[in-house]
Amino acid sequence: MSTEAEVLQRVRSVKDPEIGRSLGDLDMTRGVAIVGDTATVKIELPTPAYPRRERISDSIRSAIVSAHPDIKSVNVEFTAVVRGKMTGGAIGLRAKNVIAVGSGKGGVGKSTVAASLAFGLKSLGCQVGLMDADVYGPSIPHMIGSIDRPAAMKVTTAAGEEIERIQPVSIDGLKVISMGYFLKPDQAVIWRGPLLHRAITQFLKDTDWGDLDYLIIDLPPGTGDVSLTLSQLLGLAGAVVVCTPQQVALLDAVKAISMFNQVKIPLLGIVENMTGEIFGRGGAKAKAEELGLPFLGELPIDAGIRIRGDAGRIASLFSESNPSRDALIHICEQVAIEIAKQLLIAPKMPSLEIL
Ligand SMILES: Nc1ncnc2c1ncn2[C@@H]1O[C@H](COP(=O)(O)OP(=O)(O)OP(=O)(O)O)[C@@H](O)[C@H]1O
Ligand SMILES: [Mg+2]
Repeated sequence: MSTEAEVLQRVRSVKDPEIGRSLGDLDMTRGVAIVGDTATVKIELPTPAYPRRERISDSIRSAIVSAHPDIKSVNVEFTAVVRGKMTGGAIGLRAKNVIAVGSGKGGVGKSTVAASLAFGLKSLGCQVGLMDADVYGPSIPHMIGSIDRPAAMKVTTAAGEEIERIQPVSIDGLKVISMGYFLKPDQAVIWRGPLLHRAITQFLKDTDWGDLDYLIIDLPPGTGDVSLTLSQLLGLAGAVVVCTPQQVALLDAVKAISMFNQVKIPLLGIVENMTGEIFGRGGAKAKAEELGLPFLGELPIDAGIRIRGDAGRIASLFSESNPSRDALIHICEQVAIEIAKQLLIAPKMPSLEIL
């Protein structure tokens, strides 16, 4: 008779199909129970956005039955706990992973992709925040249909100090903050470096984000000012670069990539937006391959996206069936898995005690 310990050992040797390392190395096994000729295997995924998890069940099942003929059936039970760098400690931000969404050029769909990542990851069961850091043209409040200014509340810290905390807007549990909430409509703002730095820092520090699996940040197009501030404040999980398939937009994407390299924000990959007859298709994928970056998926041109964005109903891209939903979920999964990959494959840094 096979013992639970033997079967567990076997499961630990199964390769994770996405990350390419063994479930044991990745610390994803959470026990085996055998009753009669049935084994129940518990697996903890590194994100609820893990794509096509049935591939893991299939690999586990065949690994067990080939080595343990007395086991006739295998149940695989999944749970998920998001892994992350959790680097916001110094500024009191309890977000496991911070993701910046950027582009070299305006109008390519950055905000649409940022808001979709946020609502999509939330719909898959993650705790998510969305921060609109586009100080030049904050469009998130309009897209999510919430333009009321968030409340500020006085709270007393553990040290007995009274501070103001900003309560993020909550859309079905998604926590949102935007520069747009603090600017008057049509107010033209010239942001000097230090002021911008202060505003971004305040958004991260003084907002009551709570515990987040993912904080998505919609960046302004072009300049690296906000990215530099972010990289000084915390270790980001990485940046998602959005571009359209046109050559000119691709060149802009290359600029964005070199900007992220300069400020030492790792790249998660490229999303191609507005794929279709008008702009073409596949340019971003080819560019990603050429640059050795992950391609995170394509989002076709779909009037439904624009209409929902204009009507403040971006969330309904996930709650209602529509032609773009699958493409969006795919992008969310690819981003989440790329983060897990970079985290779990990266060699462990030697830990230096600084005395
Ligand atoms: N895949 C798509 N299909 C149809 N319309 C889209 C798509 N993606 C974005 N749009 C529309 O294109 C316009 C620009 O998108 P969005 O505001 O997301 O771009 P942006 O890069 O954030 O722009 P900005 O540089 O001004 O911040 C919006 O009206 C949006 O609804
Ligand atoms: Mg935008």
